[in-house]
Amino acid sequence: MRGLSQVQSTKFSVRTVVLVVVVIFLMSGLHLSRRGRKGAWNWKSIFRKAAPKVFSWEPIKVTEVDCSKVFSGDKMELRKAVQHEKDKSHGDVGMNDSEVLRLARTCDKLKRERTFITSSLSEEESNFPLAYSIIVYKEANQVLNLLSAIYRPQNVYCVHVDKKAQKSFRFAMEAIADCFPNVFLASRSVDVQWGTFSVLETELVCMQDLWNYTHWKYFINLTGQEFPLKTNYELVKILTAYNGANDVIVSRRWW
Ligand SMILES: *[C@@H]1O[C@H](CO)[C@@H](O)[C@H](O)[C@H]1NC(C)=O
Ligand SMILES: *[C@@H]1O[C@H](CO)[C@@H](O)[C@H](O)[C@H]1NC(C)=O
Ligand SMILES: *[C@@H]1O[C@H](CO)[C@@H](O)[C@H](O)[C@H]1NC(C)=O
Repeated sequence: MRGLSQVQSTKFSVRTVVLVVVVIFLMSGLHLSRRGRKGAWNWKSIFRKAAPKVFSWEPIKVTEVDCSKVFSGDKMELRKAVQHEKDKSHGDVGMNDSEVLRLARTCDKLKRERTFITSSLSEEESNFPLAYSIIVYKEANQVLNLLSAIYRPQNVYCVHVDKKAQKSFRFAMEAIADCFPNVFLASRSVDVQWGTFSVLETELVCMQDLWNYTHWKYFINLTGQEFPLKTNYELVKILTAYNGANDVIVSRRWW
């Protein structure tokens, strides 16, 4: 009997040690620091240090524009926002393809500077991954804007680069894809002619490539010149309501 209780107490202390080690590990993982005055937790620094797991960037506060008015479609505020953006950029349209390529060679910098969200943010979104095809042929900077807006780690993205796209553009796209395990270039590049079957062909190539990833629930086709009006969360809500139904536009040419 005595032997048994000794074994149990040893087990207990081993468990306690494991628990303590786990707690210490978690604390160091979060970079908890007691640098704040009077030994209080320095929450601001804790948050900033833990933040890279979700947002690898600092939010930018735009005080000149009322964002909630912009989102509700207030025409005056929209005009103000456009003007603000123009004034701020001094007519600069953004990085050229070689500059994007240079940025994408440092993935951490790319994710931080172009505000990529690297968490699925909610359980609901995490359980409802989406597959995208994005047909692109120019302006890596604009494609990057689109990708950073729709990117979530649970989704998967097939980027189709036009066969006749410039080399610098293709290299930039390859470098961007190399930064993310769930972004890839289509296995075959089609010479896209608008208004012909080749447009659908690119999407078929992507759809086939996307079969390599089995977990997604819905497929969304985009081009590099688009920008989302809904967040990933809103899309998940909408597509959940679809309950397996599809939203497909069918057109027919009469010639
Ligand atoms: C891209 O921008 C860089 C620096 O701003 C410049 O040196 C380079 O010539 C530009 N490349 C092209 C292809 O315009
Ligand atoms: C997907 O798998 C097929 C073979 O099953 C392969 O030919 C293709 O390159 C793969 N695509 C990607 C993007 O990995
Ligand atoms: C997505 O595919 C549908 C059906 O083929 C097509 O009507 C639509 O134009 C495509 N969207 C884009 C952005 O290419």
